[in-house]
Amino acid sequence: MDRLSTLTTMEEAFAHFIHTYPDYTRTGFLDDLRRSDYARLDRQQHIYLDYTGGGLYGESQLHQHMALLSEGVFGNPHSQNPTSLAMTRLVEQARAYVLEFFRADPSEYEAVFTLNASGALKLVGESYPFEEGSRYLLTFDNHNSVNGIREFARRRGAAVTYVPVTPPDLRVNPDRLFQALDAAPAGKPNLFAYPAQSNFSGVQHPLEWIAQAQARGWDVLLDAAAFAPTNRLDLSRWKPDFVPLSFYKIFGYPTGVGCLLARRAALQKLRRPWFAGGTITVASVQADDYHLAEGAAAFEDGTVSYLSLPAVEIGLRHIAGIGVENIHTRVMCLAGWLLDSLLALRHRNGAPLVRIYGPTTTEGRGATVALNFYDPQGRLMDFRRIEALANREKISLRTGCFCNPGAGEVAHGLTREEMTTCFVDEYRMSFEHFLTCLQHVDGKSAGAIRVSLGLVSNFADVYRFVQFAARFLDTPAEEIGK
Ligand SMILES: Cc1ncc(COP(=O)(O)O)c(C=O)c1O
Repeated sequence: MDRLSTLTTMEEAFAHFIHTYPDYTRTGFLDDLRRSDYARLDRQQHIYLDYTGGGLYGESQLHQHMALLSEGVFGNPHSQNPTSLAMTRLVEQARAYVLEFFRADPSEYEAVFTLNASGALKLVGESYPFEEGSRYLLTFDNHNSVNGIREFARRRGAAVTYVPVTPPDLRVNPDRLFQALDAAPAGKPNLFAYPAQSNFSGVQHPLEWIAQAQARGWDVLLDAAAFAPTNRLDLSRWKPDFVPLSFYKIFGYPTGVGCLLARRAALQKLRRPWFAGGTITVASVQADDYHLAEGAAAFEDGTVSYLSLPAVEIGLRHIAGIGVENIHTRVMCLAGWLLDSLLALRHRNGAPLVRIYGPTTTEGRGATVALNFYDPQGRLMDFRRIEALANREKISLRTGCFCNPGAGEVAHGLTREEMTTCFVDEYRMSFEHFLTCLQHVDGKSAGAIRVSLGLVSNFADVYRFVQFAARFLDTPAEEIGK
C-alpha cells in the first residue's frame, strides 16, 4: 500500500479494504448490531479503540438483566429459603453456562467466580504448593497480575525464571523455552504461566505449549484475559490447568466478575491460606478447626456477586449468538488493514512514522497493536501528547506500559541495568517519575500507544485512527499538536 492510498476518502479506502480483506463482508451483520445495540457509540461519535482494556456491552444485555432483576426476588444464595434458592439456581446455571461456552467438560473443569482475572490469578498464586526447589516459569510478556505470583513463589522458596521475548516480533524463541521446560525440577510442583495473547503486543503464543509443558512435569496457567474476547478458547481441545478471565473484557457488562477455570485435578493441588464464609462446610472457634467445602465453593470467599452472575450468562449468550469466530474474522481483517496502513505512513524523507512493537502481519497475533510515533529525524513523539490529542477527537486509546512491563522493556530496548538504576531509591515511585528516570538514562521511553479492536469495531474506527496518525507526518516531535 502506498502513502496516498491511506489518505484517500473513506469510501475509496473501504473499497480497497474489502478487495484486500473480502472475509469482512461476511461480518456485515455486526454493523447492524452496532447500529441497534451499540447506537450510543456513533450517536456520541466515539472511536473506541481500547477493547483490550474493556469490552463494550450491548443495550440488550442491560435490558435482559434489568428485566430479570425487576421481576425476581432474590436473596443471598448461602441461605436455603425460596428467594435464596431462586438465586442459587441462577448462579449455578451461569456457572454451567461458563463451562459450556468454553467447551469445558464439567467432569474435568470447575468454574470459580472471582472479582476479575487478577482475583483468579491471586487465588492460584497464594494457593499453589510452591516449595523449596520448585519453580515458577513465565514469559516476559505477562500481565503484572501474573508477574505478581512470583512474590508468592519466592516467599515459599521456589525459583522464578523468565523466558524472554525477542524483538522485533516479541515472540518467544522456542529453543529457549524448551530448555527451560526441560529443566523442571523433578518431583516438585512447578508452574508455567503465559498469555494466550499478549495484552501488549497482541502476540499469540502456541497453545501446543500447554501439553508440551505438562508432559515435562509443569502445571500450566494460561492467561486468556486478552485472548478470549476475540478468539475461541476451546477447552475440549486445549487443557491448561488454570485459566483466568475477566468477563467485562469479553462483553463489557457487568464489571466486577471474573473466573478461574481450573482442571479439577489441578484445583485439588491448591492449598488455601485461609478460610472464609462460604468456603467451608464447618468451622469451630473452640475446636480451632475447619473443613473446606468441595470444588469451586472452597475458592469463593464470602458472598459471590450473585446479582451480577445472571448477566454473565446473558453476556456469554450474546457472544455465542454472534459467534466468536465471526468476531475474530472481523477484527483480524481490520487489524490487517490497520497494520498495512500504519506501516505505509512515511515522512517525505522516507522515514517511517510508526514503529510497531510486535508482529507486523496478522500471522500468529490478535487485534491488539502497540506502537509509537517517530518524527522525520527518528525522534520519539511523546505518547502522552498523542493521547491528549486523540482525546480531543474522542478517540479512546490506551497509553503507557499496559501493566505489561516485560514486553515493554524488550520493545523499548531497556536493559536490566537501566531498569535497576530506576529502582535504587526506596521511595514509592510514580509512573511519571519512572518515565523521567528512563529519559535521563538514555533518552528512552517506557511507554507506547495501544490500539485494540473488538466486537463492534468497524472500518470507520480504524480509518479515522489512520487519518489521525497521518496528521503527524513531516512534523518535528516537539511541534506535534501546536
Ligand atoms: C492478559 C491480561 N491478564 C490479566 C489482566 C488483568 O485483568 P483484570 O484487570 O480484569 O484483573 C489483563 C487486563 O488487562 C490482561 O490483559
